Amino acid sequence: MPTILGIESSCDDTSAAIVVDGKVKSNIICSQAIHKKYGGVVPELASRAHEKNIIPTVSEALKIANITLPEIDAIAFTQGPGLLGSLLVGNCFAKGLAMAQNIPLIAVNHMEAHINAHFIEEIKPEFPFLCLTVSGGHTQIIIVKAFGDYTLVGQTLDDAIGEAFDKSAKLLQLPYPGGPLVDKYAQKGNPNAYKFPIPEIKDLDFSFSGIKTSISNFLQINTNNNPQFITQNIEDICASIQYTLVDIVIKKIKKAAKLYQINTIAIAGGVAANSELRNKMLLKQSELGWKVFVPKLEYCTDNAAMIAITGYYKYLDKDYNELSVVPNARLALGFD
Ligand code: KG4
Ligand code: ZN
Repeated sequence: MPTILGIESSCDDTSAAIVVDGKVKSNIICSQAIHKKYGGVVPELASRAHEKNIIPTVSEALKIANITLPEIDAIAFTQGPGLLGSLLVGNCFAKGLAMAQNIPLIAVNHMEAHINAHFIEEIKPEFPFLCLTVSGGHTQIIIVKAFGDYTLVGQTLDDAIGEAFDKSAKLLQLPYPGGPLVDKYAQKGNPNAYKFPIPEIKDLDFSFSGIKTSISNFLQINTNNNPQFITQNIEDICASIQYTLVDIVIKKIKKAAKLYQINTIAIAGGVAANSELRNKMLLKQSELGWKVFVPKLEYCTDNAAMIAITGYYKYLDKDYNELSVVPNARLALGFD
């Protein structure tokens, strides 16, 4: 029964998880509130908070899983992409522990782990499937042919969709991270209250920077006329922004499904927690006959369970790393 400790520290969440024989026994996430007052993640503060949180987080994951250190067979950690200082904390901790326990160390790509969150649950997608990976740093459409076998067929040319959510929220004077708040207000608003132009981007690629500009212009004009415009209409504004952003990715994934004749579709990454995206994807099951896979909320945003499950599959393949492995802030998925 392989027992894997997973460690995630790519951005502002310190997380540790235990996976035993492919099943998640614990998944502890320690979020860093310190960034709220700065309106975004401050890299230096994130590294320091990881340093402080990593030992209690790992201890808690072991305790909840009822596992002792000598029972661990391998340690999987996030190698990248992410903030270098944050990655270094997880990397050094994982190395030290692997060396002390004399067990294999497994480096995991954070974006691959988001995709592999779909292999945590009992019912798993069959290969090949399309994965719409939507996070704070990425917007990609990937054909997943097998574990570790990916073809990138579409990606953002500028901002990621998570950034578009967060930057829109900032323009609305909502605290960081704004994505979940836009979602919350949107649930009570009218998605057709305001129209934002949808960019015409070729093939399966995306662009979100133009929408941010049009939202900024729209808010400026309206607040010039009425300084209370945002507070009076926050729900309708959020619903209209969310409708536009979700519509863009749904249209592209539909196009990809048709082009590649694949009807098993998964969503992954932090923005996969968005209620409208989740609901609209699930509606496509009956509408288009898709088999849709939407991860549990706790496996959408950054978590170590997805790192540990990826580590588990790599462990079965004896795909280990040397203790000299280093983090890579710009680590890319190997696409063919
Ligand atoms: O995957 P993730 O936790 O971190 C990265 O790897 O980037 O994704 C974080 C992103 C943030 O932009 C956050 O605002 C967004 O996911 N997010 C959401 C929601 N929950 C998280 N965006 C829209 N609606 C949500 N409910
Ligand atoms: Zn992530």
